Amino acid sequence: MNKRFPEGFLWGGATAANQLEGGYNLGGKGLSTADMIPFIPKEERNGDNSVHVTSEQFKEAYLSDSERVYPKRWGVDFYHHYKEDIALFAEMGFKTFRLSISWARIFPNGEGEPNEEGLAFYDRVFDELLKYDIEPLVTLSHYEMPVSLVEKYNGWIDRHLIDLFTTFSETVFKRYRNKVKYWLTFNEINAIALAPYNAGGMINDRFEDIDKAKYQALHHQFVASAIAVKQCREINPDAQIGCMLARLETYPETANPKDVLKTLKEEQMNFFYTDVQVRGYYPNFIKSYFKEHDIVIEMTEEDEKILLENTVDFISFSYYMSLVESAGPHGERAPGNLFSGLKNPYLKSSEWGWQIDSIGLRVTLNKLYDRYQLPLFIVENGLGAIDKIDENGNIEDDYRIDYLQEHLVQIREAINEGVEVMGYTSWGPIDIISVSTSEVSKRYGFIYVDVDDYGNGSFERKKKKSFNWYKEVIESNGEIL
Ligand code: BG6
Repeated sequence: MNKRFPEGFLWGGATAANQLEGGYNLGGKGLSTADMIPFIPKEERNGDNSVHVTSEQFKEAYLSDSERVYPKRWGVDFYHHYKEDIALFAEMGFKTFRLSISWARIFPNGEGEPNEEGLAFYDRVFDELLKYDIEPLVTLSHYEMPVSLVEKYNGWIDRHLIDLFTTFSETVFKRYRNKVKYWLTFNEINAIALAPYNAGGMINDRFEDIDKAKYQALHHQFVASAIAVKQCREINPDAQIGCMLARLETYPETANPKDVLKTLKEEQMNFFYTDVQVRGYYPNFIKSYFKEHDIVIEMTEEDEKILLENTVDFISFSYYMSLVESAGPHGERAPGNLFSGLKNPYLKSSEWGWQIDSIGLRVTLNKLYDRYQLPLFIVENGLGAIDKIDENGNIEDDYRIDYLQEHLVQIREAINEGVEVMGYTSWGPIDIISVSTSEVSKRYGFIYVDVDDYGNGSFERKKKKSFNWYKEVIESNGEIL
């Protein structure tokens, strides 16, 4: 068995603008949907960790005297700390760094002329990365959009968004043609099914039937994504562009064929998204599902052509946990970032109840590769945990090292089994704001940031124990695992 990862393996870390940057009203940036998401303390959440914003909350977010705080507005202030942060990533030996471009920083209102100050900010960030030979891996859309597009169009339900988004994508492809080689279109494109606000700028209570609306909105994203693939190829033939899926590896609760069938259906619903983006058309099972649920997608012939002709170069995905399903009766459920499944008695859970399953990652890598034979890129994986600074001023995050170590070993196994894996970017290499709960106290980083859930703190950076561990993993190209 080969102990080293393939030559050129892209080791690194992954983030998103709205969880990292801060500077929400600086450099001409417009308000984004993420800036409107309040922090709800755990006691008030009643176990509901999913992100949804009601019309009421949305309105309140505009008020300067709102009683809520909005942590994605300050993130961890990468806007002012990017040089220091990138130097730390370089010290760990990162080969790549995943970040997203905030649409509202480039087009403050989503339409009109691009904002030069916003474009220049990402120029500086990319230049800083390239100074250390770190390849930027850039997501075009990661859970945010200009709020004016919610006000004016109700988000992605409006077809007009395709044009606006592809104007944005064309602008950034052209601007960063010589700086960015790896692109992703929509982060976790399947998230729109459960988090239409986060992923599609759609406020649930403004829709009569959100379940139907979200599939139309998704269709618009599929088309926008395919147009972006086309633009990217035309503007920079050397670049590679991928799709991004929240991969939900799902096991049947028992060998009862009913449970197996139910699980197959769940898995199909997850593969639907990559089927469209990799194969270029809607699979039959989803057409039957739409029929059965009375969902009609408005789709032109031109849309179908665009989807078919502009499939992705590689598949990227996030993986945090596996899920369990049964045909019923249904037992206790375990939470996840956006999705939940039944409790798996063979697995331990994180402090947030996410079920830790490193072997599931190997299973998923094999399944995805068997299905598509395209290179795979794990662009999110990691452990959100409460970190404590001990009496010596250190953060001994062995739990994080264990989690990452186990997952990386399984990736290596999958590579040895013949799966093509381009790289691995662990989620939140520096602590950032959680997408689901808007906490910062749920930390993923190798680098600690001194800030609390209310934005109090010095924002000073500090290495955790896992920092040197990850550095050695990268240095040895995985051999020390
Ligand atoms: C993924 C998202 O769903 O999970 C990230 O793409 C997110 O944006 C990550 O941060 C972890 O979820 P959470 O809720 O712990 O931040």
